[in-house]
Amino acid sequence: MASSSFQCLILLCSLAFFFFATPSLAKTSFKPKALVLPVTKDPSTRQYLTTINQRTPLVPAKLTIDLGGQSLWVDCEGGYVSSTYKPAHCGSSQCKLAGSKACTTECYSSPKPGCYNNTCNISPDNPLATILTGNGQLGQDVVSLQSTDGSNPGLVVSTPNILFSCGDTSLLANLSAGVKGMAGLGRPKVGLPSQFAYAFSFNRKFAICLTSSTKSQGVIFFGDSPYVFLPGVDVLKSLMFTKLILNPVSTAGGYFAGDASSEYFIGVKSIKVNEKVVPFNTTLLAIDQEGYGGTRISTLKPYTVLETSIYKAVVNAFVKSLAHIPRLKSVAPFGACYNSKRIGSTRVGPSVPAIDLVLSKGVYWRVFGANSMVKVGKDVLCLAFVDGGVRPRTSIVIGGHQIEDNLLQFDLTNKRLGFSSSLLFRQTNCTNFNFTSTS
Ligand SMILES: *[C@@H]1O[C@H](CO)[C@@H](O)[C@H](O)[C@H]1NC(C)=O
Ligand SMILES: *[C@@H]1O[C@H](CO)[C@@H](O)[C@H](O)[C@H]1NC(C)=O
Ligand SMILES: *[C@@H]1O[C@H](CO)[C@@H](O)[C@H](O)[C@H]1NC(C)=O
Ligand SMILES: *[C@@H]1O[C@H](CO)[C@@H](O)[C@H](O)[C@H]1NC(C)=O
Ligand SMILES: *[C@@H]1O[C@H](CO)[C@@H](O)[C@H](O)[C@H]1NC(C)=O
Repeated sequence: MASSSFQCLILLCSLAFFFFATPSLAKTSFKPKALVLPVTKDPSTRQYLTTINQRTPLVPAKLTIDLGGQSLWVDCEGGYVSSTYKPAHCGSSQCKLAGSKACTTECYSSPKPGCYNNTCNISPDNPLATILTGNGQLGQDVVSLQSTDGSNPGLVVSTPNILFSCGDTSLLANLSAGVKGMAGLGRPKVGLPSQFAYAFSFNRKFAICLTSSTKSQGVIFFGDSPYVFLPGVDVLKSLMFTKLILNPVSTAGGYFAGDASSEYFIGVKSIKVNEKVVPFNTTLLAIDQEGYGGTRISTLKPYTVLETSIYKAVVNAFVKSLAHIPRLKSVAPFGACYNSKRIGSTRVGPSVPAIDLVLSKGVYWRVFGANSMVKVGKDVLCLAFVDGGVRPRTSIVIGGHQIEDNLLQFDLTNKRLGFSSSLLFRQTNCTNFNFTSTS
């Protein structure tokens, strides 16, 4: 059923021709291989933000990036004006593709985006808000982005039918100032990576490179291209790979029984500090029948969150291997802090024991000082991991600080994650994609 509706959308998309956002550029049809979006980091919320041009006429919508979010959703209550908006009627192929299980038969207001009769709903999930008021009508509209050859942005391309959830303003709770929704990069077919892939017929593949700077932008790539960072480093050539794992039980705030998680899980087998295995109960690293446990990656957690017993074991091992340096009083929420003047510095950050996430024999993700330590005050550096309590839904949630200046490639077709470890090692970083346009 899902696959037949899915084919309908492919047909719809291939019937729609590509046109350029700037009419003066609209000469020939151009088929991009890949697309790019800039990413900034909000200094007060530590959220990673992007801007997507949507609607007719185009409006830049500032969005919080949710790596595991099921779809794009935007605030439609706060004034959504577009001549190309189309509601998705209940029972349509669009509703099936989005996995919608709810229908609004009558909406008591004048018709407008977010309020049409006979329109299906998908919940706009904001994992940063505690109160879920979530209802949103499924709609489609034009989205316009820059294409890329992997080195620079190229022509601007548009696609007419990107599905998204049209939600209420209250759903913006706890998001950065000026943000109008969330860009869900999750696994579902309605997730942006899959939709862009169908719309532009490229592979279901995307890569994120989050900046550690609140002043310069990082980048997200969709599709197939090299990942070139100044001074000419192609990160694609040096990725290591591990399997992406599906958690069969949804990890979203609201979901239906039987829904799988839209998040990206990986199979961490053990953790090493200074090349020594940290002892803890590794059963926690597996996903159990109720969907508890395992390791996922999140752009919404500023620091990696570890289940209590893992957290204690990692902090202990780290403190032991840095025993020659006196500890300072802990600064909440962190457990191990040091005077930065007592710690040397390297190309990959403070000179501290490496932390390895071991994935399989000989394959590990090494976390160097730039990603393991955070500066919390003048001369104070802390181990940037936090305690997630007992029996959290997921045992390890790898957060923003640990993935900054690393490139992560999510390949949905081949079900694998490509990871670079610190780009600082290669004398570049996520701010060095050359956003100067060639067209
Ligand atoms: C939905 O249908 C009802 C009954 O026909 C009508 O009163 C209402 O105005 C309609 N609402 C919208 C949003 O079209
Ligand atoms: C915003 O986040 C805080 C901290 O997690 C939480 O306590 C609060 O309830 C959230 N606000 C809303 C409106 O969800
Ligand atoms: C390890 O954790 C699992 C799941 O919480 C538990 O069932 C098991 O008894 C634990 N094993 C040990 C040796 O503590
Ligand atoms: C990233 O690279 C730029 C340009 O080389 C440099 O100015 C900046 O300090 C680097 N950032 C980090 C975190 O190393
Ligand atoms: C960035 O790309 C533009 C366009 O190709 C090029 O002119 C410029 O030299 C590049 N910048 C650097 C620092 O290489």
